[in-house]
Amino acid sequence: MSIPKAGSPDAASIKPATGKLGIMIPGMGAVATTLIAGVEAVRRGFAKPFGSTTQMGTIRLGKRTENRTPLIKDWAPLAKLDDLVFTGWDIFGGNLYDAAKTAGVLDHEQLESMKDFLQSIEPMPAAFDQRWVKRLTPKVQKVGKNKCDLASQIRNEIAEFKTKTDRQVMIWCGSTEIYIEPKPVHQTLEAFEKGLVADDPDISPSMLYAWAALKEGIPFANGAPNLTVDIPALQELSKKMNAPICGKDFKTGQTFLKTVLAPGFKARQLGVSGWYSTNILGNRDGEVLDDPDNFRTKEVSKLGVLEHIFQPEKNPELYGDVFHKVRINYYPPRGDNKEGWDNIDIFGWLGYPMQIKVDFLCRDSILAAPLALDLCLFMDLAARTPALRGLGIQEWLSFFFKDPDSAPGVYPEHDLFIQQMKLKNTLRHIMGEDLITHLGLEYYGE
Ligand SMILES: NC(=O)c1ccc[n+]([C@@H]2O[C@H](COP(=O)([O-])OP(=O)(O)OC[C@H]3O[C@@H](n4cnc5c(N)ncnc54)[C@H](O)[C@@H]3O)[C@@H](O)[C@H]2O)c1
Repeated sequence: MSIPKAGSPDAASIKPATGKLGIMIPGMGAVATTLIAGVEAVRRGFAKPFGSTTQMGTIRLGKRTENRTPLIKDWAPLAKLDDLVFTGWDIFGGNLYDAAKTAGVLDHEQLESMKDFLQSIEPMPAAFDQRWVKRLTPKVQKVGKNKCDLASQIRNEIAEFKTKTDRQVMIWCGSTEIYIEPKPVHQTLEAFEKGLVADDPDISPSMLYAWAALKEGIPFANGAPNLTVDIPALQELSKKMNAPICGKDFKTGQTFLKTVLAPGFKARQLGVSGWYSTNILGNRDGEVLDDPDNFRTKEVSKLGVLEHIFQPEKNPELYGDVFHKVRINYYPPRGDNKEGWDNIDIFGWLGYPMQIKVDFLCRDSILAAPLALDLCLFMDLAARTPALRGLGIQEWLSFFFKDPDSAPGVYPEHDLFIQQMKLKNTLRHIMGEDLITHLGLEYYGE
């Protein structure tokens, strides 16, 4: 075991993960129910947590000759699945058994085997405004005299949940809100809090939850492409309260594969002239995204990826003229089983063109649920870690996001392999282990 240098973080400074971790989820639809039912299935020994870095991933420590490669969950002080407790909000009422049935992701038999557990969780009425999610009509929602009142109601519910759990994290699994650019009300915490009282139209429902969580010192992760915490006001609050934030938009299907393939082309200096991506999906998320204003939020999140990986300004002959298009088509017969097609036009030696076709018949929420779990566990770890909790944005979690948040003036890393190295090196760093650079000259010395 290497000895940490004086002043550098070490595992002993991280508060242990004792007691219950409460997970608070605005938006208890397909992703949230697949996450919660999945955690319960794993706890009962019915299934394995495939796709989860915290549960299945390993991490190499020290030199390759040391042979130290523990499971991350056995080495890092993460909350145990048995200690997770769930709550959340939605506009549909009912309980999570009903919500999971509506989502139609998990088999009937699997849901029946956990019916009692899922029926025991009932979402609280949401802070909702149809202006932000046009295709949904609520059955239940909070009523308040202004946005400050609604956000205060959420704070009270958080305070109540604090009495039942030892630590908490919040993760937005709600619908994608309509696209907006940051406005003056988003620029400072003072302006934002005045805007809550004045019912400013540019404060979205997801921002109310984020503000309430951060005010309560609770980390907030954003699984959707909404602006939410990507505004100076809430970044200021995050730092002030030592409550980590991260986002945005779970990197699951097509974009996940894009950030695997694109770094490969770039590594081999293969040019790209076009990348056409289209999807069909028939779940409620697909229905929400069928509205052009909601789709715009998703489109922006999906489009940035290639530009950041290819850096066309630095590689103009290879990537200076990439035609990149992304389409999402609502197609109810497929439900949550999305199909994502990519046609990629590339060129190689002497400019000869080639084509690649990808057809990913995926399951949206099956891909997203383990990411949501990992984010909850890592955000809880960040909140207990002195070297991380005051940073605001947790860029080391960009591995999980389509459109990762990064410090102002710093471009985000989209390459999945850089993101993975960043994640693992951050874990090594906070645990007082040597960082791994893959230099490896020492194996060949005298
Ligand atoms: N692979 C994936 O599934 C994936 C990947 C990336 C991002 N996302 C994003 O994650 C989010 C959830 O996806 P999903 O498939 O579970 O969608 P879903 O439609 O099944 O669930 C979203 C839920 O949020 C609820 N909701 C909307 N506004 C709310 C509010 N203000 N407060 C509380 N609840 C609210 C809706 O009623 C709905 O039940 C979406 O924004 C989606 O774009 C999903």
